[in-house]
Amino acid sequence: MTLSLTDIVSISDFSRKDIDFVLDEAARMEKLPDSKKNELLKDKVVASLFFEPSTRTRLSFETAIQSLGGSVVGFADAKVSSTKKGESLSDTIRVVGGYADIIVMRHWIEGAAKRAAEVSDKPIVNGGDGANQHPTQTLLDLYTIKKRFGKISGLNIGLLGDLKYGRTVHSLMYALAKFENVNVFLIAPESLKMPQNIINDVKDKIAIKETEKVEEFLPELDVLYATRIQKERFVDEFEYEQIKNVYILGKDLLKHAKKGFKIMHPLPRVNEIKQELDSTDAALYFEQSENGVPVRQALLNMLKDVKK
Ligand code: CP
Repeated sequence: MTLSLTDIVSISDFSRKDIDFVLDEAARMEKLPDSKKNELLKDKVVASLFFEPSTRTRLSFETAIQSLGGSVVGFADAKVSSTKKGESLSDTIRVVGGYADIIVMRHWIEGAAKRAAEVSDKPIVNGGDGANQHPTQTLLDLYTIKKRFGKISGLNIGLLGDLKYGRTVHSLMYALAKFENVNVFLIAPESLKMPQNIINDVKDKIAIKETEKVEEFLPELDVLYATRIQKERFVDEFEYEQIKNVYILGKDLLKHAKKGFKIMHPLPRVNEIKQELDSTDAALYFEQSENGVPVRQALLNMLKDVKK
């Protein structure tokens, strides 16, 4: 089987078959001996263009590239690129496509990855575009859930925090809609609710309940996927200051959670998950970020010979 996509721009472009294929390939990567793995991207160059800050996405991609025997070129800060001199995204992508076989990018503008994919003759991987989408994060989230629960279908999943600006939860909503009988509980203050257009897009496929109170549906949840309040996306800093402490999860939460309950978070966190939860069985977020490597290894291996 091959992936039906030539670029990874939006999780909505993935069929259920594509998602299952990526998750199976990630599991295969975890088992493959290093001696076999480190030949997979031999002689391939991957560009890592991060116009916006990142720790996990950039470093797990770069770890994946190196572990598969590939080379990385790129930048971690737009200020050290010719963007600073006024070069357009389209020109940057066209030029880098002349050096690299695959381009992984993060940009602050929603739709930047789509635009890049339109002008690039090399596969584009969206490592996050503004408040829009973060498809590879979603694939590693799904991988983490499947690895831990043995399934995704039938689970009760709470999404908590900044559902307005959080690109990880936008992508996750679209992905969960591709599985059967998933119940999603949207937990956010009024001003940070999940955009209505996303709810409209998926509401026929997943059961959705909304609340502002984390306690309301907690006993039903298998997973609580917490997110950071996205300070950098607020137009009004005063508004951020007013809402930044809206949810702070601590150990007391676990008293009302069901057996096997897990907390996920794409990270970075600020204060929304207290450190006292880190050593509990519920904490899945560090394992989740580690899963970024096999999932991204699988994606790179699938894209290495793509012809657009
Ligand atoms: N989860 C995530 O995208 O983290 P970074 O912003 O550190 O890449």
